[in-house]
Amino acid sequence: MSDLVIKNAKLVLSDGVFEGGLLIEDGKIKKITSDSGLLKADKVIDANGNYVLPGLIDAHVHFREPGSSSKEDWFTGSSAAAAGGVTTVLDMPNTQPPTSTIEQLNRKREIAQSKSIIDYGFHFGASADNLNELSALENNVASVKFYMSETTGSLRVDNDAVIFEEFKLLADKKILATIHAENRDMIQYWTNKLKEKKEANAIDYTNTRPNICAADALNQMMYLSKMAGNRIHFCHVSTREEIMLLKNSKTEKITAETTPHHLFLTKEDIKKLGNYSKVNPPLRSIEDQKKLWDAVHSGLIDIISTDHAPHLPEEKNRDILMASAGMPGVETMLPLLLNEVNKGNLKITDITRLTAVNPAKIFQIKNKGMIKEGYDADLVIIDLKKEAKVDNSKLLTKCGWSPFNGRKLKGWPTKTFVRGNKVFDEGSIIKTQGNEVTYF
Ligand code: NCD
Ligand code: ZN
Ligand code: ZN
Ligand code: ZN
Repeated sequence: MSDLVIKNAKLVLSDGVFEGGLLIEDGKIKKITSDSGLLKADKVIDANGNYVLPGLIDAHVHFREPGSSSKEDWFTGSSAAAAGGVTTVLDMPNTQPPTSTIEQLNRKREIAQSKSIIDYGFHFGASADNLNELSALENNVASVKFYMSETTGSLRVDNDAVIFEEFKLLADKKILATIHAENRDMIQYWTNKLKEKKEANAIDYTNTRPNICAADALNQMMYLSKMAGNRIHFCHVSTREEIMLLKNSKTEKITAETTPHHLFLTKEDIKKLGNYSKVNPPLRSIEDQKKLWDAVHSGLIDIISTDHAPHLPEEKNRDILMASAGMPGVETMLPLLLNEVNKGNLKITDITRLTAVNPAKIFQIKNKGMIKEGYDADLVIIDLKKEAKVDNSKLLTKCGWSPFNGRKLKGWPTKTFVRGNKVFDEGSIIKTQGNEVTYF
């Protein structure tokens, strides 16, 4: 007998929706068929005609271990992910200490291995002086991350010559560079101006990192990478100017992501959210948001990742310049996107392209991102008709809040499977062991 059958489903395959069922054996999708009545297994789950999507791959999360486990840890973070239909996360290196040495990478590996209930991979950190560590990297990280400017944590490369040298090394090693692109000198200049003012609020903060900071940095990094010959991926693209630059100069060596908070929040929300709105890059205007949506539709933006950056309320409730930057998102991305399907703004296959197929391609993750025979059985059953409000009191992220608290959304995940193991079922978490992904 086989392990598990999911029958009576609308399977969202990479080329369209397929009505039928699938058979899972040893954690892999063994067979996909339209006649799911013929499939036999120890356990059979009836999807009742609901959609089944490939589990989401969130390519940008901050699960905070080691160093800041009061904000999040690998169990709470991965539980929040499972509840949001996310079956694989790629964790960022701005932990404490940063993941910028092989030793720290291996330490983080042990932590994730012991606590994560979903699958995971790691971004390695570029620093001003870790060329040796970068040289020693093997094909077992998702990317090398470059923080050009100050953001949460101490990891940074603030010398363009060093960035260029490191890009050239990564070109040789065929390792992707991911980039937090904001111009540090500009940020510093406007931050110093704001410090001279007596009082500052969350709107003022956005003016320390205006559109030009992001656009200028993205432009420069496109040029450096063109000269160095490496592949680059831009994190959290947020402005119309970046979209214009990408439209004019994007090549097959350049990919880009945007975030749910830049797609679903704007500066207009800052009044209500106060310091909770503080994030790098900051929330933008409605005009910027419109251009982001156009780029999502046209494919200029390749993926949506959450930049899940949990901070505790007490770390938000400080003077705006001292408040932590970042917001959680791993639990709410899928319902926000499903709500857009109900509104007619997205197709269900767009969600799969943006959150599973393309992330697996860009980060070269083996056997994930598609419902396909031979692939890992990472699956999420959704109920497109279910209506519920995002509710801070029900969230699994340790930080305990969402910028979308109170928002009524139609379309929610109901069951999540990682390699055939059920990890989330109608509100409950089932503890299983996640694995590190492998790369092709
Ligand atoms: C992130 C964090 O808190 O780790 N914060 C944020 O505002 N996005 C860091 C980052 O991605 O820049
Ligand atoms: Zn960033
Ligand atoms: Zn559009
Ligand atoms: Zn981030």
